[in-house]
Amino acid sequence: MTILITGARGKVGQGVAGRLKSAGHPVRVASAEPSGDDVIELKLNRPETFDAALDGVDQVFLYPEPDGIDAFVKTAEAAGVSHIVLLSSSSVLGPNADNDPLASHSLAVERALTASNLTCTFLRPDAFASNALGWAYFIGQNMPIQLAYPDANIAPIHPDDIADIAAEALTGEALKGRSITLTGAHPLTFREQLAVISNVLDREIPVEKISHAEAERQMSRYMPAPAVSSLLALWAAASAEPAVIADTTETLLRKPARTFEQWARENAAAFSG
Ligand SMILES: NC(=O)c1ccc[n+]([C@@H]2O[C@H](COP(=O)([O-])OP(=O)(O)OC[C@H]3O[C@@H](n4cnc5c(N)ncnc54)[C@H](OP(=O)(O)O)[C@@H]3O)[C@@H](O)[C@H]2O)c1
Repeated sequence: MTILITGARGKVGQGVAGRLKSAGHPVRVASAEPSGDDVIELKLNRPETFDAALDGVDQVFLYPEPDGIDAFVKTAEAAGVSHIVLLSSSSVLGPNADNDPLASHSLAVERALTASNLTCTFLRPDAFASNALGWAYFIGQNMPIQLAYPDANIAPIHPDDIADIAAEALTGEALKGRSITLTGAHPLTFREQLAVISNVLDREIPVEKISHAEAERQMSRYMPAPAVSSLLALWAAASAEPAVIADTTETLLRKPARTFEQWARENAAAFSG
């Protein structure tokens, strides 16, 4: 039976599709902006795109989009879908998740899926290693990286680790139906992540500590104010505590978690300006 993979342009969606295809599973790959003959159009906030995408589908790898999720669930149930693996977020476990703009969209989708007749697997990753691409422009231009919380402790997860775990959830029984918080295996502060990138590029990357207010001002240029406040509060809290290590490919698949250094080596070109 066919497995529908949403978010074909996403780092994790791409990885899941590649893994299932090379293992010979029948997949249908979907994107809001499809490119290439083998990708179909699916806009998760446009129910008129759901019937064709879900026809003949047994399982779905889903990105969280609350607008349209009720219609998506209804169409999936009617099409005979049995299992959905959701790319959720560890932020849904936060104390104020309902009002946290980083968490609320994933939480709304988790709730809609929980209320359905479908078997659901919730993958709740913490910060992706690929968030470091946010520094690429500055590093490429030899500019310092300005951070309010350079010593925030996190354990970034390689998007390919999430793809490995999602592929296992779609093809095996062990992870099916579980809610799993995911991290990388190694705690690293932002300063330490930048030192890894510096080492990979073999050049200095200066780090400048700036005030909370200055970071707020800078981030508000490209992010809504509530998301800025939420991220800065998260990093402030992460500066005061050790990083939490949750499940990894090691604990779930008996396969060493990819390191941040590996991610940095694979993506070194992105930092070269
Ligand atoms: N970055 C993190 O640290 C982190 C941590 C925990 C959870 N997450 C979750 O992971 C997801 C994407 O992560 P990312 O920021 O790193 O982006 P990304 O991998 O660049 O993925 C972006 C792509 O994912 C698909 N997508 C994402 N949200 C969608 C939505 N609401 N409706 C339809 N398609 C959607 C789209 O693919 P198409 O255009 O091909 O449809 C989009 O181009 C988000 O849902 C985010 O909450 C991220």
